[in-house]
Amino acid sequence: MNTKFPKNFLWGGATAANQVEGAWDLNGKGPNLADAMVAGSHKVERKITLDINEDKYYYPSHVAIDHYHYYKEDIKLMAEMGYKVYRMSIGWARIFPNGDEEKPNQEGLKFYKEIFKELKKYNIEPLVTIYHNEMPLNLVKIGGWSNRKVIDYYVNFAKFVLNEYKDDVTYWIPFNEINDLTTGVGNWNHGGILNEGTETFQNQKDDPNKRFAALHNQFVASAKAVIIGREINKNFKFGTMICHITVYPLTPHPDDVLLTQQEDQLRNCFSGDVQIKGYYPYFMKNYFEKNNIKFECTDEDIKLIKEGVCDFYTFSYYMTNCITINKEVTQVSGNIMGGAKNPYLKATEWNWQIDPVGLRYTLNHVYDRYGVPIMITENGIGAKDVFENGEIHDDYRIDYYREHIKQMALAIEDGVDLVGYTPWTAIDVVSCSTGEMAKRYGFIYVDVDDKGKGTLKRYKKDSFYWYKDVISSNGEKL
Ligand code: BG6
Repeated sequence: MNTKFPKNFLWGGATAANQVEGAWDLNGKGPNLADAMVAGSHKVERKITLDINEDKYYYPSHVAIDHYHYYKEDIKLMAEMGYKVYRMSIGWARIFPNGDEEKPNQEGLKFYKEIFKELKKYNIEPLVTIYHNEMPLNLVKIGGWSNRKVIDYYVNFAKFVLNEYKDDVTYWIPFNEINDLTTGVGNWNHGGILNEGTETFQNQKDDPNKRFAALHNQFVASAKAVIIGREINKNFKFGTMICHITVYPLTPHPDDVLLTQQEDQLRNCFSGDVQIKGYYPYFMKNYFEKNNIKFECTDEDIKLIKEGVCDFYTFSYYMTNCITINKEVTQVSGNIMGGAKNPYLKATEWNWQIDPVGLRYTLNHVYDRYGVPIMITENGIGAKDVFENGEIHDDYRIDYYREHIKQMALAIEDGVDLVGYTPWTAIDVVSCSTGEMAKRYGFIYVDVDDKGKGTLKRYKKDSFYWYKDVISSNGEKL
């Protein structure tokens, strides 16, 4: 197959601070919400403990893969793969330990400065997520994102980092997967909301009024960050980031088709519309009315949202799901929402349905809707890797990427302006939903297990060498 990618296509990889850094209480860093999540598994839900008790529980983010100390080695390996771009996040509590201070923690600022210096050494463009599920734990106590005060705290944080790194970074993502709050699963992890009775990350008590208030506050915060950012450096480019769970009707029954359209609007389109088009879409006004959902939204908020729109569209893509009105149908899991099993697709061990063609479909879907440059900022397969004599033969990962990249090329041929790709992940990380290391995503293997045991040594998987060739051939050699 002749795969044609644009000359300056941004090949790279992604991570998030809370899933790689570790050093959770070092050099002035405060605890964030990920630091309060106990390890779980596919079968065991992740417990949330506001009082962190390391004697009793194991919290994987506390050491993670210790990127805090290994970043030079990690970036060197990324450079060896030929990365043009590296998507990472800035841990809010590393800069503002409690989230509400006026002055930043200098040690925290220094750490990211060092990372940017290292990236520059290898000509790797940073793509920085300002908020990737990393709310300082202190702000959880005031209701997380459902409290409007958090907008100001975030803006203060964003202003500092945008200013501090104005010469180091061009591409920014104000919020990771901002649409996570369109479902109850987003309450804790994304919104910092801990409703009474919530014990685990997966099984959360839901209050839609609070949840949509929190999402609205994030839209306003994002818009403010974009507006301030443009004043700081007019060359900054801001991207939305949507957890795109593409949905298909399970049957051609018109009721299934209609429900699929509604799910797509709510989960996928709504947040993209607000951040790219600059307004609440008509279908959400109707949704709020029908479900009696109320939250504070001022005229000033509407003005800000209109003004602070993003420049490019990015999304994570792992799977697709089917939608049906039939409640009896078998459901499969997904990250922010599950759905009906698609009989034509295989799934990962964690039951995420693998659908490369769905990526081409999704790219066309979003490009048609927004017409702005697109980046895929997460895509990958969580799998159990076998480590033997320093080698990891992850042909399943290579197959997954090969098939997805083929579809990206076809979407480009369709006319989609796809400008970059940062697979999840550059290097093994702690899984967000399960807290496992066993659910591995990286091109680089890290010797650490689900209990935090291991040498932390880094090893190149077979996919490392394969991806290196993909990048050097600009997607020709798959
Ligand atoms: C995305 C998140 O939803 O999915 C990442 O942005 C996360 O933080 C990724 O790691 C994969 O999910 P999981 O639960 O397998 O780690």
